[in-house]
Amino acid sequence: MKKQVKTAAVLFLLACVSMTSCNTSKKENNNNMIEKVSFGKLPDGQETELYTLKNASGMEVKISNFGGTVVSWTAPNNKGVYEDVILGCDSVSGYLKGVPYFGALIGRYGNRIANGKFTLEGKEYSLAQNNGVNALHGGLKGFDKVLWTATPIEGEEPGLKLTYTAKDGEEGYPGNLSVEVVYTLQKDNSLKIDYKATTDKTTVVNLTNHTYFNLNGNLDSDILEHEVTLNADKFLPVDKTLIPTGELKPVAGNVFDFLKSKKISAGINDTTDTQIKAGGGYDHCWVLTDSTKTLKSAATVYEPKSGRVLEVLTTEPAIQFYTGNFLDGTIKGKNGIIYKHRSGLCLETQHYPDSPNQSAFPSTVLKPNETYQTTTVYKFSVK
Ligand code: GLA
Repeated sequence: MKKQVKTAAVLFLLACVSMTSCNTSKKENNNNMIEKVSFGKLPDGQETELYTLKNASGMEVKISNFGGTVVSWTAPNNKGVYEDVILGCDSVSGYLKGVPYFGALIGRYGNRIANGKFTLEGKEYSLAQNNGVNALHGGLKGFDKVLWTATPIEGEEPGLKLTYTAKDGEEGYPGNLSVEVVYTLQKDNSLKIDYKATTDKTTVVNLTNHTYFNLNGNLDSDILEHEVTLNADKFLPVDKTLIPTGELKPVAGNVFDFLKSKKISAGINDTTDTQIKAGGGYDHCWVLTDSTKTLKSAATVYEPKSGRVLEVLTTEPAIQFYTGNFLDGTIKGKNGIIYKHRSGLCLETQHYPDSPNQSAFPSTVLKPNETYQTTTVYKFSVK
């Protein structure tokens, strides 16, 4: 009897030792270690890098220091299968061929500025007119095309800190602008993006991320059957060059109403609507009903076949919902897949386009001694 008790005690002890060695934090850390590999060279010989953030549930987000670009992102479907749900390229060379801002950080001013001109403190500034007559997404070499300094942040919720200083006069904008963007992959399958910027001269700032999502998990498909909710009771109608007219139009009673979940296909081809015609589909800025600077839900996307749900939360006042209307089947992306018309959708949280020229819009002016600070969260789940 005594012997049996002794043996049991020894077995119990052995079990405890083996359990703790299996559960060592080392193994967990290894699992969460941020891997860094080469992402290819820039024409001037500089190396670019690709970092992999992983969380305990198996989500993987790959981010490059080139453009601060989110290159791939796996999310589970309703059977627990993780698949890549964003458009992108296999290496930096793909991004250098002129892809439309796949996954990139956008700045110094995301979206359009009319005629590439604005006046600030009595001085007129001229920007490159890189989108018809307008300036788009920070210029010819915006934040999507520069090399950021990357610092991995190890931990259970791994992150990547990216910093970049845009020079006074760079792309025509005033002030040396120091920008810090932190991507954090959270335990709950969300990616948090914290943006910060300071300047030494009064300037304008509107930072966002331009990821194209396709929740099918099959990037060789379109997003038309995705169901979208936008917590926005107004949107900004645009002129034929996609500059807001200044009107804040209620969504009630027209194809811009996504207050209740609706298939994108329901209204996207309704060319009797002059705004759909202007955008070639949805390519508009929605004004969030909740205009506070708190982190609030701005949008939800649901893809019925995979069961994937993406929720977007932001401290920003607006969101550009773009349905990949300019994708035309000429870009070959990751794994040789051709990105067809409307194969990705963007939910770009931001201030209103052309704010530097429209004084009735919330201000995008940043002064020295002020800190620009916004947060956006993209959270995946299944239904
Ligand atoms: C933004 C714009 C679109 C288009 C894409 C990139 O989202 O609103 O009009 O320029 O970027 O193709």
